[in-house]
Amino acid sequence: MTLAAARARVLRALSPLHPLGWVSVAAWRRCSQAGPPAALPHGGYRAWQEQAARDPAGFWADVARGWLRWDSPFHTACQPGRPAGPARWFLGGRLNVSVNCLDQHVEKSPNRVALIWERDEPGTAVHVTYRELLDLTCRLANTLKKYGIQKGDKVAIYMPVSPLSVAGMLACARIGAVHTVVFAGFSAESLAGRIMDSGCKAVITYNQGVRGGRILELKTTVDEAVKNCPSIKHVFVAQRTDNKVHMSDCDIPLEEEMTKAASVCTPESMDSEDMLFMLYTSGSTGKPKGIVHTQAGYLLYAAFTHKYVFDYQQSDVFGCVADIGWITGHSYVVYGPLCNGATSVLFESTPVYPDPGRYWEVVQRLKINQFYAAPTAIRLLLNYGEEWVKKYDRSSLKTLGSVGEPINKEAWQWFYQVVGEGRCTLVDTWWQTETGGICIAPRPSEEKAEIIPAMAMRPFFGIVPVLMDENGKVIEGNDVSGALCIAQPWPGMARTIYRDHQRFVDVYFKAYPGYYFTGDGAYRTKKGYYQITGRMDDVINISGHRLGTAEIEDAMVNSKQADHPDVPETAVIGYPHKIKGEGAFAFVVLKEQTAYTDHVKEELKTIVASKIAKYAVPDHILVVKRLPKTRSGKIMRRLLRKVVTEQSNDMGDVTTLDDPSVVKEILDAYQKYKDKSSS
Ligand code: WTA
Repeated sequence: MTLAAARARVLRALSPLHPLGWVSVAAWRRCSQAGPPAALPHGGYRAWQEQAARDPAGFWADVARGWLRWDSPFHTACQPGRPAGPARWFLGGRLNVSVNCLDQHVEKSPNRVALIWERDEPGTAVHVTYRELLDLTCRLANTLKKYGIQKGDKVAIYMPVSPLSVAGMLACARIGAVHTVVFAGFSAESLAGRIMDSGCKAVITYNQGVRGGRILELKTTVDEAVKNCPSIKHVFVAQRTDNKVHMSDCDIPLEEEMTKAASVCTPESMDSEDMLFMLYTSGSTGKPKGIVHTQAGYLLYAAFTHKYVFDYQQSDVFGCVADIGWITGHSYVVYGPLCNGATSVLFESTPVYPDPGRYWEVVQRLKINQFYAAPTAIRLLLNYGEEWVKKYDRSSLKTLGSVGEPINKEAWQWFYQVVGEGRCTLVDTWWQTETGGICIAPRPSEEKAEIIPAMAMRPFFGIVPVLMDENGKVIEGNDVSGALCIAQPWPGMARTIYRDHQRFVDVYFKAYPGYYFTGDGAYRTKKGYYQITGRMDDVINISGHRLGTAEIEDAMVNSKQADHPDVPETAVIGYPHKIKGEGAFAFVVLKEQTAYTDHVKEELKTIVASKIAKYAVPDHILVVKRLPKTRSGKIMRRLLRKVVTEQSNDMGDVTTLDDPSVVKEILDAYQKYKDKSSS
């Protein structure tokens, strides 16, 4: 038998309609009326996983033909990255992402609800149908065009979740512009940095935001940011509140323009590998990187994982409470669910507003079927007690999901037993901004599969995890730990760092040639399941938000801009935090010890909030005379971690320190600090 014939045979055996006949995924997809298939196809997880691992190009080609609507078909499913780098997918294919997320559903069921906007004000949810969302998107797209935004132009979106911000993303996709959503909690300086790096021509924002009953001055922040951004030609301002904000000549009232705009906008036919969006994320240097995702591969991977990781069924209400400022919001609030014709919830509020029952009241009122949240919120809520949960009917829930950081066993059990009443599948999903979608998750579609608490467990179709030792060798067997890498390309993988491809290759493909290095460590259990053990670099995870410790250090030290003249040197490390998962602990050296006052400490906190965001502000700032350094001048952060986690009896090898007496000095300072804080 030829290779092609063998492959065809396997595919037929795995075909979703296998019991009924020999049809391809594509044919079966065409005959289904709308949305994703109802159940995991015949053959089950193991068969699909084996096939996807053996022949990723063939597997994804079949899925892509059936799952997406193409303007013209691709000729090559996968072109591997050479000599090192990401693969490119679905070459030669053309499509429009907004058509896949909107038009195809409008044709079949225009009145199906696409979005439920759960606004901050409790009980004021707004339902938006697919037809209405297409209308909004086209009007917004035409408005962007009217003001000179063209294919390839970059547009910043500085808005919390709302139908308009989703329409903003899809409007960019419709006309081939590239969006970069900036989390609306970032400071003016962070926003300006991202706009400058990406060369955005426009910003879309709200006059104000509303969260947890408080007003966020979004337009004021944008004004502050764009002062230093000559590339910005227009700021489109939508109204979230009735309050007036200052409008200058380049500010455009968005809704007013949209009312005048045509409600039809011809979609741009995009190449599979054209840029869809970039999203800035933290690495181990001080400068966030613009992670670039492209059209077809990203969309397919987001949609396919949305269906299978959460066991999404047609007409389910999917509730991912992430903000669109993060990758979770991109993939599982917007692109994955909408491509699958789902009803997606946009959650604008906080878990504790107006009280700690908010999530569960929303679950009851909107009849949410899949609920996807961050462990930090679960840890916060479990402190308030079970009554807040039990007050509400959660019988609609089928699948619960956790994302963004390790979930501890206590939080997992509470989520599973209290929220899910022990009857919902709970999936701990591991992935990254760079991976585009979920890569390791227990997978509930496989009904009888065991799920171990607080573990991501099984690789998704086509994901081949490997663990590496310190010498760059693959670690075989089970019950082993190492650096987590992925051995084969998959369509959702980011393609580059905007304007810095070399950095992309260096960070992800150089450490272990031939493999994608995730930056995380993992343990493979005796049964072969994967347990993520945490970052291996200087990236910390505060409330599920990634942050390079170097970013905080850069914000505080006496840099070129003389941020704080009294602080020549700092070292920031992550430490375990009960609610946030990790918190930032800063060791700072002052120019003159005597100059130190609590005032300087407060100033440093303000600087970090204004240069990055509030969540980046260190919980602790400890003044030390000097930092522990090796003879070559490298700060030994490992020692600082031991100090704050109070493992000073296990400092390890300190012989490479320039002056080992620094250890005692720092331990004494830490002890004094602790005594002072507890008194
Ligand atoms: C961490 C978020 C443990 C990990 C989707 C990763 C996790 C980083 C998990 C990516 C999980 C994410 N268990 N750790 N289930 N999910 N992480 O880019 O360190 O914001 O590298 O993407 O979060 O964060 P990012």
